[in-house]
Amino acid sequence: MTCSENMNLIFLGPPGAGKGTQAKIISRKYSIPQVSTGDILRSAVRESTPMGIRAKEYMDSGALVPDEVVIGIVEERLQQPDCEKGFILDGFPRTVGQADSLARLLEGFGKRIDHVVSISVDDEELLKRISGRRTCEKCGKGYHLIFDPPKDPAVCDACGSALFQRDDDKEETMRKRLVEYNSKTAPLIQYYSEKSLLRVVAGIGSIEDICDNIIKTIDGCRCDNP
Ligand code: AP5
Repeated sequence: MTCSENMNLIFLGPPGAGKGTQAKIISRKYSIPQVSTGDILRSAVRESTPMGIRAKEYMDSGALVPDEVVIGIVEERLQQPDCEKGFILDGFPRTVGQADSLARLLEGFGKRIDHVVSISVDDEELLKRISGRRTCEKCGKGYHLIFDPPKDPAVCDACGSALFQRDDDKEETMRKRLVEYNSKTAPLIQYYSEKSLLRVVAGIGSIEDICDNIIKTIDGCRCDNP
């Protein structure tokens, strides 16, 4: 058995830290799905489902969506067959209440979290990253206009579809998201540190180097504590 099989991971960090970017790469490397509550909510907003209509007003203002909505999403998603051999939770949990609910949920499934990867990046860098972020409307591939540019700023290199800028990436909304992160999500760093699950990885540097550090950190911890 390799060090990386059957892993249940949480990626924690402020908006723009690179959780989604890294989760996509690690998901491919370890063949475990990325479960992004932000992506699931944006898809519900696009499809105007009742949940999407409810979530939209919170997301547009930079606020967190109520716990009971996102907990329901995660409960349903983690029961899908592709999560049996592991998963990466990207953007969940975001509050201590969500973290407590997740622990109860996983206990019921006979599972546990192996590592919480906390990606740390300073606010100035976060604002630069968010303002240049573009995402493919079809395949979901992410870009940055300066740090990870597509060949054509409006077109996805991978599938040729149009790139869009997220509605909540305006500077004013981004600042509100940072306030929400610092007051409601940052306490999870202490929460998971006390459970000896926290692995802090610096989020500054190239995407490839950060990915290597994440892999070294989680494989190192797993090999030390099989
Ligand atoms: P969500 O979609 O989860 O957004 P977020 O946590 O604010 O995180 P982002 O997606 O903005 O950033 P990221 O860390 O994934 O960075 P990325 O990899 O894209 O949530 C959106 C909203 O949904 C919330 O505000 C809330 O309303 C709601 N929501 C979601 N989950 C919820 C929950 N659990 N509870 C309640 N509400 C919830 O990178 C950013 C940019 O930087 C990209 O352009 C990328 O190319 C670039 N980049 C990445 N790495 C690097 C690097 N090393 N160097 C240079 N550029 C880089």
